[in-house]
Amino acid sequence: MKWTRGVVKRKVTWAEGLFTLEIKAPEVASFEPGQFLQLGFDEADGHLHRPYSVASPHRETLDFFIVLVEDGRLTPKLCKLEEGAEIDVSARAAGSFTLKHCPEESKSIWLIATGTGLAPYIAMMREQEVWERYEKVVVVHGVRHGSDLAYQPELIEHRVKYGDRFAYVPVVSRESVDGAIEGRITTAITSGELEKTSGLEFSTESCVMMCGNPAMLDETESLLVERGLTKHKRKEPGQIVVERYW
Ligand SMILES: Cc1cc2nc3c(=O)[nH]c(=O)nc-3n(C[C@H](O)[C@H](O)[C@H](O)COP(=O)(O)OP(=O)(O)OC[C@H]3O[C@@H](n4cnc5c(N)ncnc54)[C@H](O)[C@@H]3O)c2cc1C
Ligand SMILES: NC(=O)c1ccc[n+]([C@@H]2O[C@H](COP(=O)([O-])OP(=O)(O)OC[C@H]3O[C@@H](n4cnc5c(N)ncnc54)[C@H](OP(=O)(O)O)[C@@H]3O)[C@@H](O)[C@H]2O)c1
Repeated sequence: MKWTRGVVKRKVTWAEGLFTLEIKAPEVASFEPGQFLQLGFDEADGHLHRPYSVASPHRETLDFFIVLVEDGRLTPKLCKLEEGAEIDVSARAAGSFTLKHCPEESKSIWLIATGTGLAPYIAMMREQEVWERYEKVVVVHGVRHGSDLAYQPELIEHRVKYGDRFAYVPVVSRESVDGAIEGRITTAITSGELEKTSGLEFSTESCVMMCGNPAMLDETESLLVERGLTKHKRKEPGQIVVERYW
């Protein structure tokens, strides 16, 4: 792997253990919103690194939305970084969780995430393509607690700018929060509450991107398959496009 030097310019803490690092890494090659880079450090026993979706489009300073996995190897180190700290950033992004890899004919798009799976969508919504290509964009963010609903001011700005063409649907599983669906994304699909709240149906006319917790991805995919949607493949077009974080 080829590494470039990154410097932390700013750290935004959304909740304890949930943060965004803005890292100046001007040597990173151009990439598509939705792709990921590796972040890490050279350690005595080798290079320790992990993939992270970039939460911003390509530019000199790149955003990464990260959660602390308490018994993890890298995130406790990332969590301790402050402004001015240095970090290795891979020179080239990778991944096919991008609008380029979504079916061409979809009229609308669901952007479904749990936790930090919101990151690739933040990057996409900062660029024009998603707004130009789709009649309706729906962001569904499933989290444990209301305090984990990061990026709300930015999401609300999209709502102000795009009106009914954009829906932001927070789903909170472990407490009741005003303006959010209570429970899991999967239960809100089964009950019909997700479609009702967002004003969009799951149909073959919509692309469904989903990212984050692997159990949520598997269960949501099964529910969508029951509704007649299929995984999108280049040779067998469908609607569902997935990014697994672990
Ligand atoms: C393509 C891709 C993009 C990713 N983008 C992001 C991102 O934008 N933000 C982010 O925070 N993470 C992201 N991840 C996860 C990230 O790469 C690491 O796995 C994570 O940060 C844990 O690293 P660690 O060294 O602390 O834990 P490790 O010591 O590697 O332990 C890994 C274990 O931690 C658990 N785990 C990993 N990630 C999570 C998570 N997000 N929530 C709960 N449990 C988890 C799993 O059980 C996993 O087996 C992404 C992963 C992939 C494959
Ligand atoms: N503020 C934070 O977010 C924070 C801070 C510090 C550390 N951490 C750690 O980071 C790790 C990840 O936490 P996280 O909260 O970001 O991610 P998470 O455990 O994946 O939970 C995010 C959301 O996904 C839901 N979910 C889990 N399994 C699902 C399934 N099968 N179908 C549908 N929805 C499902 C959860 O519901 P349930 O609540 O029902 O499980 C929750 O609403 C954990 O180890 C946590 O301890 C998190």
